Amino acid sequence: MKKILVATEKPFAAPAVNGIRDVIDTAGYEFVLFEKYTDQSQLVAAVADADAIIIRSDLITPEVIANANNLKIVVRAGAGYDNVDLSAASERGIVVMNTPGQNANAVAELALGMMVYMARGLYSGKAGLELRGKSLGIHAYGAVGRYVGKIAKGFGMHIYAFDPYIADEKIMADGVTPVHSVEALYSKCEYVSLHIPATAETKKSINFDLLSQMPKGATLVNTARKEVIEEEGLLKMFAERGDFRYVSDIAPDCAAEILEKFAGKAYFTPKKMGAQTEEANTNAGIAAANQIVNFFEKGDVSFQVNK
Ligand code: 3PG
Repeated sequence: MKKILVATEKPFAAPAVNGIRDVIDTAGYEFVLFEKYTDQSQLVAAVADADAIIIRSDLITPEVIANANNLKIVVRAGAGYDNVDLSAASERGIVVMNTPGQNANAVAELALGMMVYMARGLYSGKAGLELRGKSLGIHAYGAVGRYVGKIAKGFGMHIYAFDPYIADEKIMADGVTPVHSVEALYSKCEYVSLHIPATAETKKSINFDLLSQMPKGATLVNTARKEVIEEEGLLKMFAERGDFRYVSDIAPDCAAEILEKFAGKAYFTPKKMGAQTEEANTNAGIAAANQIVNFFEKGDVSFQVNK
């Protein structure tokens, strides 16, 4: 019997776990839940006889792969797969997939929620600002970026997007204005919402040169990855631009320094929670389980990211 391991340090909501279990049971596979582990060595041990693994931001390192002798497929229930060592998986012929779009609305709602929270002075009771009439730049117009645009429209924001991989016509069809360089996006927009993945090309790409082009009242919103920010530049931006605000679902390494020196100008969630809703967990978790069943039963490799 095939063993499907759900390995989530940050657990899925109970209805999502039940939904995943149903899919696995119906396929006649063994379902094993391994959550809230506290040390990477426990994950390394847990994968020993798994045929498939469903993960979230859990780290699939070469060591994990080396200890997973039966492993054929890893599905990251979510969008970003920078937590999976793709070359180690490919070397062993292990298929890696994600579940694009399944948790996108949850992340987008959080991005807008954090914007309101900051615009209203962290709900301190002091007079704040409104989002209506402000310009919003969506940096990467994938599934999350599109939902951010849709919701922001309801707030009456002017919306721009930069994404070199998406045709202008597609962006314009959503009532969003495409721009053709990051510089154009940052220099136009009071709010910029990041939706780029963490890759060799994007890591540390959000630097002082770029941020300092933002107009007065600049707020950077990060529900993507902390690695895309160049933290020296972030600190410099706070130091030189008293109007700058930063809200992020992933605290930077220099979080304590920012919160101490620039209190009230930044907010970081205590734990990455963009995708942490019952709905997103259920959508992404069940999609992951179905992808595994389709892979084993039909050889379906849709959503494979290490081709
Ligand atoms: C993603 O890439 O899908 C999000 O960052 C969600 O990550 P999580 O599943 O660890 O909450």
